[in-house]
Amino acid sequence: MEINHDIIEGMALALKQARHITVFTGAGISEESGIPTYRGDDGLWSKYDPARYADIGHFLHDPTYYWNFFQEVRYPLLKNAKPNKAHLVLAELESKVNLKSVLTQNIDGLHQEAGSTKVIELHGTSRVIRCIECSKEYSIDDAFEKAQCNNPPLCTDCKGLLRPAVIFFGEALNPDILQHAFDEAATCDFLLAIGSSMIVYPAAQIPMIAKQNGATLAIINKDATPYDSRADYLFHEKAGTVLAQLTGTGIYMFTKL
Ligand code: APR
Repeated sequence: MEINHDIIEGMALALKQARHITVFTGAGISEESGIPTYRGDDGLWSKYDPARYADIGHFLHDPTYYWNFFQEVRYPLLKNAKPNKAHLVLAELESKVNLKSVLTQNIDGLHQEAGSTKVIELHGTSRVIRCIECSKEYSIDDAFEKAQCNNPPLCTDCKGLLRPAVIFFGEALNPDILQHAFDEAATCDFLLAIGSSMIVYPAAQIPMIAKQNGATLAIINKDATPYDSRADYLFHEKAGTVLAQLTGTGIYMFTKL
């Protein structure tokens, strides 16, 4: 799908001139890596009940449900997923424009694997497994092996319950991480929002904080979002398609000033 060249060039010029770019990403940026989004027709939630899968109360009441899902879905997805074009272009942009932070809601670690160095994980990471008693950490491979023998998997040291290092529904985000993200949103002069329905708070405040502080707002999202009317650049397209076209613009002809 060819994107309007003038709009892409205009956004590229604005990115080039920006002194502080903050990127905000959601599950949509990982969709082209084979990781299903949460909402929408074929979203994860259409197959698994978030009230059971992603809620801290239910996890503590019946952890086997999560660990079955981990073994059947989460682990294979994490093992097979690779960064896609959108992740890779974002990582490359760090040397082309003043990209200061990637605020991600995603727990898949694909931004870091693509080479992004300024990632703030708002909802934690599913690539680290932790004992809820002694906080000992395990890899997803160790956890998978343990879960195959014993569901739920327990800590080797203290026999405590193991859990993913993500923020479950019903849990608060780390206040320091959230404040850092809000500061990035308030300081930036360009907020690039990619692949998020922007309806889950408090993360969904980020585009509005940036806009209220005078930033340029660009949204790349397959479906409509609540902030579309406030966007200076709006693409209802796949993230990989739009970001791939950035590589054909002036941004890629000069190194960062
Ligand atoms: N390119 C761009 N956008 C896409 C693509 C794509 N290839 N595929 C899907 N999208 C869009 C969808 O249109 C949708 O609006 O990505 C958005 C994903 O929205 P959600 O599934 O709601 O994911 P997200 O916004 O990250 O959810 C936020 O909710 O369930 C919690 O903690 C979970 O971090 C997650 C949070």
